[in-house]
Amino acid sequence: MKVFINKRIPEIGIKMLEEAGFEITFPSHDNLPHEEWLKYCENADAILNVGHNTFDHDFFDQCPNVKAIALYSVGFDHVDIKSATQKNIPIGNTPDVLSKATSDVAFLLMQSVARRASFNFQKVKEGNWGDFDPLHALGQELYGKILRVFGLGRIGFEMAEKCKKAFDMNIIYHNRHHNEEAEKALNATYVSFEELVAQSDVLSIHANFVPDQKDLFNASVFEKMKTNSIFINTARGGFHNQKDLYEALVSKHIWGAGLDVTNPEPIFKEDPILELSSVCVLPHIGSATIEARNGMARVAAENIIAFSKGEKMPNCANP
Ligand code: DGY
Repeated sequence: MKVFINKRIPEIGIKMLEEAGFEITFPSHDNLPHEEWLKYCENADAILNVGHNTFDHDFFDQCPNVKAIALYSVGFDHVDIKSATQKNIPIGNTPDVLSKATSDVAFLLMQSVARRASFNFQKVKEGNWGDFDPLHALGQELYGKILRVFGLGRIGFEMAEKCKKAFDMNIIYHNRHHNEEAEKALNATYVSFEELVAQSDVLSIHANFVPDQKDLFNASVFEKMKTNSIFINTARGGFHNQKDLYEALVSKHIWGAGLDVTNPEPIFKEDPILELSSVCVLPHIGSATIEARNGMARVAAENIIAFSKGEKMPNCANP
């Protein structure tokens, strides 16, 4: 079986595929232009895909030889799952192994924004340490506050658990389904979307992105939040309207925002949101730990190996 891997992944995954006897192709260079990427895909039986290349209806028509795709990500918003399923193409993803790392970044952003860490670090770098001032550089504490989680799956649960343990925060959530484990273990309370966004201290997004949720977090949502609210997005930039978020921050309608994902991605360096002291932006590094990236390589390889044996991929996004 010919497997195309579009970017180097940790050795553990490559070794597993080599040992399984596959013919592996890597591109001649990183960041292939679309046409070149497509050519590599056309010649493959299976693809291990790093990044957000689009796999839509046209792709499946253009690459009829492709029989399986293993994503090097948990998110699959760049794949038309319906078309893949119609063509009998399994789409593997990498849940669980990155939940701790991604929720760590949400937790880090929450604290960074609460204490204005990136802004204060910037001042230090500029040689502007400043005198001790009782009324200056004041953050806010998170003890006993309310965390509102949009999407309480594996990553959302990890974030909620950290917030509960570290700050005894109260957990309120909205999800497609009730999460009974979280209700029991974390005393989490399920609410409607409208109730979720009202009166939040910290609102953190951990859901899978689907196109009809584009800009779900917009001016009308930010308006309902409290002025001490911290907005965290480590899921997908498409969830928030960045201009509305900027305006909510400038007008001090909300306290701050921590973003590991932006809209567009990468964010333009001229984006005015980057100028705000109330914002911390990271370049989509949620899963960027040695442990998580090794785990993702292993799970992606397991998905391809299972497919080659005629088995169901252990982690499969198709229904
Ligand atoms: C994921 O795994 O979905 C990350 O966001 C990287 O794409």
